Amino acid sequence: MTQNRSTWIGCSLGGLLVALLALQSMPQETEGANILGVFTSHSPSHLIIHMSILKTLAEKGHNVTVVSAMPPKVTHKSIKHIVVPMSAEDEKILSDGMSGMVREKPSIWTTMKSIFSSLSLLIDRQVDVLEDPRFQELYLNKGNKFDVVFVGFFFNSYQVALGARFNCPVIVSWSGPPMLMVNEMLGNPELSTVPQMQIAVAAGKPMNFKQRVQNFASTVGFNALNLYLNHKYNGFYKRLWGNDKSMPSFEVAKRNVSLAFCNGHAISEGPIRPNVPGIIEIGGIQIKSKPDPLPEDIKEFLDKGKHGAILFSLGSNLKGEHIQPHVVETIFKALSSVKQQVIWKWDDTKNTPGQSANILYKKWLPQDDILAHPKIKLFINHAGKGGVAEAQYHGVPMLALPVFADQPGNADKLAESGYGLQLPLATLDVDEFKAAIKEVIGNPKYAEKLKAFSQLYRDRPQTAQESVVYWTEYVIRHHGAAHMQSPLVHMNFIASNNLDIYIITALILYILFLINKIVWKFVWRKFCGKSNKASQKKKVKKQ
Ligand SMILES: *[C@@H]1O[C@H](CO)[C@@H](O)[C@H](O)[C@H]1NC(C)=O
Ligand SMILES: *[C@@H]1O[C@H](CO)[C@@H](O)[C@H](O)[C@H]1NC(C)=O
Repeated sequence: MTQNRSTWIGCSLGGLLVALLALQSMPQETEGANILGVFTSHSPSHLIIHMSILKTLAEKGHNVTVVSAMPPKVTHKSIKHIVVPMSAEDEKILSDGMSGMVREKPSIWTTMKSIFSSLSLLIDRQVDVLEDPRFQELYLNKGNKFDVVFVGFFFNSYQVALGARFNCPVIVSWSGPPMLMVNEMLGNPELSTVPQMQIAVAAGKPMNFKQRVQNFASTVGFNALNLYLNHKYNGFYKRLWGNDKSMPSFEVAKRNVSLAFCNGHAISEGPIRPNVPGIIEIGGIQIKSKPDPLPEDIKEFLDKGKHGAILFSLGSNLKGEHIQPHVVETIFKALSSVKQQVIWKWDDTKNTPGQSANILYKKWLPQDDILAHPKIKLFINHAGKGGVAEAQYHGVPMLALPVFADQPGNADKLAESGYGLQLPLATLDVDEFKAAIKEVIGNPKYAEKLKAFSQLYRDRPQTAQESVVYWTEYVIRHHGAAHMQSPLVHMNFIASNNLDIYIITALILYILFLINKIVWKFVWRKFCGKSNKASQKKKVKKQ
């Protein structure tokens, strides 16, 4: 710190002037706060959401530091970035797991399998990031002081203790709508009327019996997984901070989350549910309200299309090598035969599926900016939450080829809502694929449905970016948000479900029943017993 100060004093008068001017143009309150983002999960699509949040804050003039397990695609020039990457061996295991999943039709079974193979690696490796000296330096260096820390949720609830570690409020960032484990941290009630992420229910419709059974079963399943994870979290907590006297117990540390930013917009896309005030919806945070200009080659390629264009991308987790060669061939056959220009996201641009005048291969795409281009008539994707939201925002119909995790559920929802069609990637057929492309581009009903949706999606009191800035600065201004915390956070399973009250009520009813029985027995004996005896006596007299 003293070194910092002396270099600061040593800086030129010009620099001082610039600094003064910058200070003047900053907002009055919570100006230039120190914000830390900790995003340890190895998922590019989640990182895009987290980074879009922190980029918004950096643009507002805050001093943002980010620690992540992979280099970010979204960033800002003033963000200080620390990458603590996974080992090459672990990357390989994950990549092989991905290929395995692509080969099968998505189902509960493949999702469960992925949970217990790749996912357990994804969960365990996150602790390594927090044990890394590059991360620990952030709190060991007493010169650092953070005003708020963001934790990117991915089966790592123990990380909310970073608030206690840095002695500042914690905000959770989650890439989807509120879900069971995020709800638990904020005390957001879990309700049987709210469909879990893999169940598609059209707006304003009830869940039918089968869906309710599915929903119930998956809620129980998630709760069981959560029990198991909590057991793991305890272990991680002990390993990280068990011997640290300055840290509270895990039980205390985890009941201190101020807010959760959830990447959803329930009014337009569901699920409709009540939320506690600590759940802040920022659906579409990664979407720019004004697209950036496209790279020259992409712009030229799109402008050439007389029949419009198609964007084809299976997202950032899935690489070309994960998809079986015959499926790639099927896709190429179909896409090279359509009239439209096709932009295909493909990693290995030296080794492409085939050459065709209407196909442009690109390793990395400004997806959001391309979807904003008026020539784009169709977005063929894997139904990842981010891409679907971008297409919905820009009103582009979709053809989904879902693979795993929340993708099958997202694909069901978009088909159910009339935003496009879906086909299984593993068993794709050329003719079927071509017919689906033709239908979604040719039939105006999909584009019309999306246009209406897009209007709803954009109609908000605050944009996603404004919400992020407002609520983050709110938490900084008030040093946390304990005043709006749900009491559920502090209640155990028995209290939050009133199980004790049910048991006591049942006991009281039982005791009342017993007393009632005794009284009636007594009354019966006293009167009926007497009159019986009396009538018996009478009978005896008569005789
Ligand atoms: C910005 O944050 C970093 C922590 O990463 C800190 O070292 C630095 O002093 C902060 N800058 C200002 C101007 O507060
Ligand atoms: C709880 O949060 C406050 C800020 O909101 C923070 O200063 C404090 O260290 C946290 N305490 C624990 C035990 O996590």
